[in-house]
Amino acid sequence: MKKHLFRISRFAILLLSLTGITNWVWGADTPAIIPKPVSLELLKGSFTLNPKTVCYLSQDSLLTDWNIFQKDIFKATGFTIPIKGSSRPHEKNIIVLHTLTQLDTVLGKEGYRLWVSPEKVEIWANTSAGIFYGLQTLLQLLPPEVESHEHITGQSWTIPCVRITDYPRFQWRGLMLDVSRHFFTKQEVEAYIDEMARFKFNVFHWHLSDDNGWRIEIKGLAKLTSVGAWRVSRTGDFGTFEPPQPGEPANDGGYYTQDDIREVVAYAAQRHITILPEIDVPAHSLALIASYPNLSCTGLPYAVNPGSPFYRWLDNVLCTGNDSTYIVLDTIFAQIARLFPDPYIHVGGDEAYKGFWAQDPRDQAVMKAHGLHTLEELQSYFEKRVEQIVTSHGKKMIGWDEILEGGLAPEAAVMSWRGIQGGIAAAQQHHDVVMSPWGHCYLDLYQGDPLVEPKTYGMLRLDSCYLYDPVPPGVDSSYILGIQGNLWTEHVPNLRHAEYMTWPRAMAIAEVGWTPLAEKNWVDFIHRVEALFPRLDAQQVKYSTSMYQPIIQAVRDSLTAELEAKLSTQVPGLTIYYSFDGTNPDNFYPAYPGHPLPFPKGATELRVVSYRGAQRMSPIIVITKDQLRQRF
Ligand code: ACM
Repeated sequence: MKKHLFRISRFAILLLSLTGITNWVWGADTPAIIPKPVSLELLKGSFTLNPKTVCYLSQDSLLTDWNIFQKDIFKATGFTIPIKGSSRPHEKNIIVLHTLTQLDTVLGKEGYRLWVSPEKVEIWANTSAGIFYGLQTLLQLLPPEVESHEHITGQSWTIPCVRITDYPRFQWRGLMLDVSRHFFTKQEVEAYIDEMARFKFNVFHWHLSDDNGWRIEIKGLAKLTSVGAWRVSRTGDFGTFEPPQPGEPANDGGYYTQDDIREVVAYAAQRHITILPEIDVPAHSLALIASYPNLSCTGLPYAVNPGSPFYRWLDNVLCTGNDSTYIVLDTIFAQIARLFPDPYIHVGGDEAYKGFWAQDPRDQAVMKAHGLHTLEELQSYFEKRVEQIVTSHGKKMIGWDEILEGGLAPEAAVMSWRGIQGGIAAAQQHHDVVMSPWGHCYLDLYQGDPLVEPKTYGMLRLDSCYLYDPVPPGVDSSYILGIQGNLWTEHVPNLRHAEYMTWPRAMAIAEVGWTPLAEKNWVDFIHRVEALFPRLDAQQVKYSTSMYQPIIQAVRDSLTAELEAKLSTQVPGLTIYYSFDGTNPDNFYPAYPGHPLPFPKGATELRVVSYRGAQRMSPIIVITKDQLRQRF
């Protein structure tokens, strides 16, 4: 029997890339799976799903997992595969899902084994989560058309014969969606969760409150949703908008009722995704303060911020010396704890401007009474009280890494976003950590050249996501729960753009979270990303192809100190063509020679474009000499 081992293919890629030959030829028959399984053996032959295929479940409890797979394949295939209790020996054309009666210690809580032979597909796992992930892999083994929203005729639904053993590297593989800066409906959130499930994410962090909208119904605090969920409507460049005008209706926004929340929690749970709810306090609280102005130090009346510059210096912070703050938070966290079955509640804690605490007699009284010397210690006092509230409702607290400052609450977990130092410090103090450093995990940053991308800030190219390792050197990895990508939505006003910002970078994060470090390989990953794009097309999920763009950097000639343009690409196998004469380059123009380009005398702009062979892969990027100079 002819076997292709995955390892051999990787060796082939390495050889090809070392010899300068592109790898685009090698992988036609290697199944493209993201995240890459721990081990995959490609066998000869294939299984064909057809109207006569039958499914066997070892336990009724696997029905939900199967039903989601059945639903995912139904539109394209039209097949309703009958389910039976136990298969006969030698029966053919069957899919068998088994949960193991004896623990398979290799697989752990989320792993699976998948064996596809011409006669049958079998998945084994210790848990239904493992079965679900096996089914997600099976979906990726089917032709991309299986994701189509329309019935496809004449397609052979073949699955290559493989033997896979697979389990995740980390227990926490998360994505965060900010629904405050822009509101996303329940259906949109579920669509986002659907796509997360495809890539074996298991935590959806729901950023439910911020300065620009409160998004969850809390019984007994009606103003949170009658006032806090709504702002005046603005369109365009968030952050520069005109503040609310007198008498202007606040009709832009929305919130989730508690029934909505229960529905989304159940929807996610069926896909083995837990939901981490975040109520961001003590700062980022303007929507809460707009609803209940007595909770801030100043007590000033505010409207929910529609995306304007702050009216006063970040007066979006709760007063720490006001009992009402803790009474309101107790009401909120008590209900959150009941609505979300998962162990953690995220309490924010980031970017608290503390200037008002320094002036407020109530905050000052707290500092005096508790012997606190700094405002950081005052925030720590606040966080410890919040932790008591959270634990009194049976939950664990997690917060952004600012909660470390002034002393970490006894049991708190930390989400490290400003870099990795917070995560390192928390792990050294024996606290659990989720790594989410902005430079590797912030999906709201640019993923290509700002000259051709929708406006945002900062830069996070696909390779920076992929090449990240969440376990810092010297840190006890048992404290690193995992990795999370965060999508803040100041500049993300709709689901299509949320998808564009998320994919493919979240595929990289999925693979960092799942695949063993030693199995990661950038060139191989890119190949699989490209192979998966047609699936997203079939699903009608938007994604970015910015990874193909030329990267333009400013350098100086070592002798003359003249400004030069250094060009490169993240994706191997591309050629960059350029012009300085104001015309649009194509693949008949000069190719980048591999060393920086000086501007010819009189030239004021450079135009660049990337190609693979004769296929254009990027937009033309036009950069003036002045713009390039600003890149130093
Ligand atoms: C954050 O990005 N402020 C957590």
